[in-house]
Amino acid sequence: MNPDLMQTEQSMYTRDIRIIRMNIRHLPEVSRLKVNDDQLPFVGHIQEILTIISGTVYPHLVMAGEQVAGFFLIDTAYGDQYDFAPVGCLGLRAFFIDQKFQGLGCGKQAVRLLPAYLQSEYPAYQEVYLTVNCRNPGARHCYLSADFQDTNALYSGGSAGPQHIMKLVL
Ligand SMILES: CC(C)(COP(=O)(O)OP(=O)(O)OC[C@H]1O[C@@H](n2cnc3c(N)ncnc32)[C@H](O)[C@@H]1OP(=O)(O)O)[C@@H](O)C(=O)NCCC(=O)NCCS
Repeated sequence: MNPDLMQTEQSMYTRDIRIIRMNIRHLPEVSRLKVNDDQLPFVGHIQEILTIISGTVYPHLVMAGEQVAGFFLIDTAYGDQYDFAPVGCLGLRAFFIDQKFQGLGCGKQAVRLLPAYLQSEYPAYQEVYLTVNCRNPGARHCYLSADFQDTNALYSGGSAGPQHIMKLVL
């Protein structure tokens, strides 16, 4: 694509990015979200992800204008489940951008909006943790660009190989 056109397309999306809570009305659109096949080991199918929602794990959407561009879970009991995370922190899980919206800056913009969003919606929490597969440098880069720090520790409990443990102080 012509670089100028690509730039225009990128800024068209990124200026309209916002984060909202998912509700039942979003389900049909959310059910159609997809990542590329080679990205499935990092995040799984949306149908599997939706089964993780619980009384402590809340679904959120990355909106590009009025379209659902991405998805993530906020886990308020993350530290109870993972030894590497302190009790009382948040966990960011299953973060992804739909394949149609990838490469347009939506992921980076959404992660940049995250601290202010979490401070406002989850004011009792001071830290958010996540893990990102060592074979997924694109996602790690995206998190680093939005003030997540790599703790330099690895988590090896996942099914797709070692993962970097990252954290963000809110
Ligand atoms: C990772 C992901 C969320 C990034 O979202 P995105 O909207 O495509 O990314 P953006 O367009 O905002 O780009 C973010 C940055 O990552 C970089 N990037 C993207 N893919 C990359 C790759 N494969 N390798 C290196 N850098 C990459 C971009 O160049 C950009 O950096 P820059 O602005 O400094 O150039 C998206 O690719 C995705 O959903 N992947 C599949 C699911 C996944 O891996 N989730 C993470 C689970 S921990």
